Amino acid sequence: MKICVLPGDGIGPEIVAEAVRVLQAMDLNIEMEEALLGGCAVDATGDPYPDATQKLAQAADAVLLGAVGGPQWDGNPREQRPERGLLGIRKQLGLFANLRPAILYPELANASTLKPEVVAGLDILIVRELTGDIYFGQPRGIEMRNGERFGLNTMHYTESEIRRILRVAFAAARKRSRKVCSVDKMNVLECTQLWRDVAIETGREYPDVELSHMLVDNAAMQLVKNPRQFDVMVTGNMFGDILSDEASMLTGSIGMLPSASLDANNKGLYEPCHGSAPDIAGKGVANPLATILSAAMMLRYTFADEDAARRIESAVKKVLAQGFRTGDIFEPGMKKVGTRQMGDAVLAAL
Ligand code: IPM
Ligand code: MG
Repeated sequence: MKICVLPGDGIGPEIVAEAVRVLQAMDLNIEMEEALLGGCAVDATGDPYPDATQKLAQAADAVLLGAVGGPQWDGNPREQRPERGLLGIRKQLGLFANLRPAILYPELANASTLKPEVVAGLDILIVRELTGDIYFGQPRGIEMRNGERFGLNTMHYTESEIRRILRVAFAAARKRSRKVCSVDKMNVLECTQLWRDVAIETGREYPDVELSHMLVDNAAMQLVKNPRQFDVMVTGNMFGDILSDEASMLTGSIGMLPSASLDANNKGLYEPCHGSAPDIAGKGVANPLATILSAAMMLRYTFADEDAARRIESAVKKVLAQGFRTGDIFEPGMKKVGTRQMGDAVLAAL
């Protein structure tokens, strides 16, 4: 198993180091090699996704990523921003299927800002399309028109792009509660009318899975009103970006949520849902669990080693049950630990 490790910016190197230690402790035949992506790559080479990183990422079976971005690069031209590196690797590797599970660990029920009875037992999988939509649509830009600045982006989807992500959602639902909610804005946007039409057609291939549809504004509301009505939610790139941040907070901390971005052959990029948290970078206090859980998703999806994935997930549950908490999920009475100590606790539990 060849893994390309991209620590990235901010807290990225700290949290990735813990996930790497966990993978090394698993007794698997893994080869890991590090490279630069994001702001650190811009600083070193002027390019957020340099050639050397591209070569390594393309040759690897899977990519483990920390996070990219930080205020020091916000003023850069767009091609030299860290986010461009992330979008570049997703697009180049064809990672169209982004899986973002939002699971509430019973031990963290009080960390959610919602009432425990609303979120207890929460287990949602957001399936976000990741290589299309307004994120990549042309034309785009800021230009002068009629003597004023004019900003432009383009939302588009082909039916094959919609169908392949819907199929990922239906297949995932078959391993869960067999419910898919497809999210669109068909009352206003033609592009998402097509999304709904193709969702309905694709649904006919999966008669055993219940398909429903929801407009994105209502979906945002339903997620806080009654999140447990959802099993699998599937949506486009931009709506998925927004709804997955919202869903993550139902669980109390975005610091707990892993993600997988897969191509058609289960090659994948695995990263925590959270960002680079520049405010706490280098302090050793960031929560490494989302990255460690991302490594578990890697073992499950790319390396088809369900057993190993579960060993990591059980270890994480165990350290939560033992009361170990980083600052983001801390409650009085628990044991407050830093990034490294949290990694130590997971290794001990393993
Ligand atoms: C995410 C992030 C990225 C996105 C940014 C950093 C480009 O918000 O992975 O959700 O918008 O996809
Ligand atoms: Mg986002």
